[in-house]
Amino acid sequence: MGAPTSASGHVPHIAVLAGDGIGTEVVEVGLRVLQTAAEAYGWNFSADHALIGGAAIDATGSALPDATLHLASRADAVYFGAVGGPKWDNPLAKVRPEQGILGLRKALDLYANLRPVKLSPSLLSHSVLKEDIVRGTDMIVVRELTGGLYFGKPSRRWQSPTGWRAVDTLAYSEQEIERVLRTSFDLARLRRKKVTSVDKANVLTTGRFWREIANRVAVDYPDVTLEHILVDSAAMYLIRRPASFDVVVTENMFGDILTDEASVLAGSMGMLPSASLGSQRNSLGGVQGLYEPIHGTALYTPEVVGTGRANPIAAILSAALMLRYSLALPAVADAIEHAVETILEAGFRTSDIAGPGTEIVVTDRMGELIAAEIARAASSTQKARITAPTVA
Ligand code: IPM
Ligand code: MG
Repeated sequence: MGAPTSASGHVPHIAVLAGDGIGTEVVEVGLRVLQTAAEAYGWNFSADHALIGGAAIDATGSALPDATLHLASRADAVYFGAVGGPKWDNPLAKVRPEQGILGLRKALDLYANLRPVKLSPSLLSHSVLKEDIVRGTDMIVVRELTGGLYFGKPSRRWQSPTGWRAVDTLAYSEQEIERVLRTSFDLARLRRKKVTSVDKANVLTTGRFWREIANRVAVDYPDVTLEHILVDSAAMYLIRRPASFDVVVTENMFGDILTDEASVLAGSMGMLPSASLGSQRNSLGGVQGLYEPIHGTALYTPEVVGTGRANPIAAILSAALMLRYSLALPAVADAIEHAVETILEAGFRTSDIAGPGTEIVVTDRMGELIAAEIARAASSTQKARITAPTVA
């Protein structure tokens, strides 16, 4: 089977920004899986690569070169790896790899960062938490991504008469809070119809503002239950009663912290994908988005790169989210997610999710296994279709 492809008939165009270190390794595996899924389900995509992060700093002096931004803004979706590494870690440096991803989120207005945290049943016994507590964990954390503490001004350091000082600012407009709350309520409608809004309303003005807007938006969604939790309690409840959460929505910095914590629920940070969605539509009738594993380069230090110890599943599941939200190919997204589950069920493990005595597969091999399962499942459904008796 060849093209055509998605519902609109356009060939999806993907900007591939692999970044640094482990980013390049897992994105390569993710792209191979995507290619297999394309062949198996009869569609096409085109991909163009560009530099971002430390690699871009080395080549151009900027973490987000104009050419990269140009490519990303024209693409239907951005497939992203990870940025950063010890080489560029000087805290006083003016140019830092993280500016690449932060600049891209802001420039593409990717305000809603969806981080699904779902515990695969086959990893239940691997959890560091008691099985009774984590069983059934299936939530989406919606992290506000273009405002709050990450982007508020002023943000600087200066010398005062009494010594050096520094400031960051937590600022939000009504519109910024409202739109991410709407995204969360819309998502909840497709799930278990519960939104948990996380803030720090007992201390912060922006927290009280956030809560007030959440209550106002909730009026438009009478079928969805809204609960409010303070961020410190949320950190505790995530571990005490993770299965009680459905959609969790929160400020940028709170979301950054809580999702690293929540990744433990899924067994490893190497399992967690993310989708950053914006306000722009793409040529396929989907939302333009950026798809990246949440692990970044911090989880896998440069010594791990190339050793096969990284888990490519976060990158592979990010590709699935890309198919669902940006490329209008939800059935292929399902097929990838299903293949990941099947391979985990069959007992294959990368080092981060292996129990004692379990045989470990390397990064590339995990990708090959998942790709092979996608191809196998696609051909068996096609065969089933061809051989199914026709009922007159
Ligand atoms: C994440 C990462 C980034 C963030 C870093 C790499 C800038 O931790 O995506 O969670 O803080 O947003
Ligand atoms: Mg983070």
